[in-house]
Amino acid sequence: MKLLKEKVMAEGIVLGEQVLKVDSFLNHQMDPMLMKEVGSEFVRRFAGEGITKVLTIESSGIAPAIMTALELGVPMIFARKNKSLTLKEDIYVESVYSFTKRETNEITVSKKFLNADDRVLIIDDFLANGEAAFGLARIVEQVGASVVGIGIVIEKSFQPGSKLLKEAGYRVDSLVRIASLENGTVTFVEGE
Ligand code: G4P
Ligand code: NA
Ligand code: NA
Repeated sequence: MKLLKEKVMAEGIVLGEQVLKVDSFLNHQMDPMLMKEVGSEFVRRFAGEGITKVLTIESSGIAPAIMTALELGVPMIFARKNKSLTLKEDIYVESVYSFTKRETNEITVSKKFLNADDRVLIIDDFLANGEAAFGLARIVEQVGASVVGIGIVIEKSFQPGSKLLKEAGYRVDSLVRIASLENGTVTFVEGE
């Protein structure tokens, strides 16, 4: 997605060889006009899939997910990282390990909001090792619903998430793919 690639080039800050800081449009300040375009692009890419719900994880997945859901005219659900005031039997829970933060978090979704006949599009802001996306997919599968695909705003293709998710049979569609952050420079996957 050209507009997004330009934004990454103009405003992304490379931190070491692993992390791209994009707090001016995605992770802290958010750019609603860009997020609207991001939503439209996901809708184009997943057209004809009969999506009934969009699922993400708080907090930075919410903006691209809500714009996608708005254009599809379906609800958006965000998995919570902190338990809300709910009984255990009323929620789906999965453990998600973060290599970046070296900690395991439990993510939860209320059973009220997903049904076995749902066709779910998973959206997230970043794809690194894929742990968050796998956790969200496991929640959908606990319900007996279908994962239509996984839409990612920024994929770091030099980390294993995309490959692992594809090997597990998921359709992964990333709006920009980064091949490397070496030498303080963002290098995109060829053809982006
Ligand atoms: P994984 O799910 O793909 O395995 O990723 P990982 O555990 O490494 O990610 C932990 C957090 O760090 C996630 O945000 C993820 O979006 C973010 N992250 C991973 N790589 C990058 C990167 O290169 N740049 C930025 N800006 N973020 C990255 P989170 O903790 O869930 O936070 P948030 O959604 O509340 O922002
Ligand atoms: Na994030
Ligand atoms: Na996220």
